[in-house]
Amino acid sequence: MKVLIINGTNHKGSTYSIGRIMAEKLTNSENISELFLPRDFDEFCCGCTNCFVKGAETCPHADKLKPITELIDASDVLILTSPVYVYHCTGQMKALLDHYGWRWLSHRPNEGMFRKQAVVVSTAAGAGVKSTMKDMSDSCFFWGIPKTYKLGRPVAAVDWQSVKPKIKESINAKAEGIAKRIQKSQGKVRVPIKTKVFFKIMSLMQRNGWNNADMEYWKEKGWTGSKRPWK
Ligand SMILES: Cc1cc2nc3c(=O)[nH]c(=O)nc-3n(C[C@H](O)[C@H](O)[C@H](O)COP(=O)(O)O)c2cc1C
Repeated sequence: MKVLIINGTNHKGSTYSIGRIMAEKLTNSENISELFLPRDFDEFCCGCTNCFVKGAETCPHADKLKPITELIDASDVLILTSPVYVYHCTGQMKALLDHYGWRWLSHRPNEGMFRKQAVVVSTAAGAGVKSTMKDMSDSCFFWGIPKTYKLGRPVAAVDWQSVKPKIKESINAKAEGIAKRIQKSQGKVRVPIKTKVFFKIMSLMQRNGWNNADMEYWKEKGWTGSKRPWK
């Protein structure tokens, strides 16, 4: 099982540590890749909309994005981590997610996504974990990933060393439970009804859509008919 961790910060604090614990419960370290933001991607979307209309390869940041996309595509499990910054994910995580808008279900989702699983990880000193995890899980859902687990909690600390042992134990237990469920479903993840309904609506819309790049993609894949990426 290949695991990719995308860390929404460069430093190895509480959030990174939990993401790493999660990954190590899933597989051995040779199968874990890690990216750090902004170290590995430091661009903001400039709003040209080239990715949507002309193709992702025409994004001004396509060269920097390519190795990240390759790692995403090669992974079985994606772990997205971000500490809570003013109730949301870090700016650098959001900036990366913005660069994948073209891969949303409403545009050109990659069929490999429908076989993956994801975990979103977040910590806060006190509040904001729920909205921060949602920032990341929204992209996972709209990329087509059928199952995203949430592993987040307030840690009442600003670094991992100061997190109380009891809190660490409970995080460890939760990660253990998630790992078991991911391993059980590996290779046979059930696509939820929410994805199926959304996909059906898009399949009807792409028959006469507004964006040629999207329409051609859906028609070529056979998704405007009865073909589905999870079959
Ligand atoms: C810019 C900034 C904004 C933050 N905003 C919040 C917040 O809205 N709510 C909160 O409870 N903690 C907030 N924190 C605290 C961190 O979320 C918390 O300490 C977290 O566990 C740090 O994770 P890390 O060790 O992975 O960096 C903020 C910290 C920073 C640096």
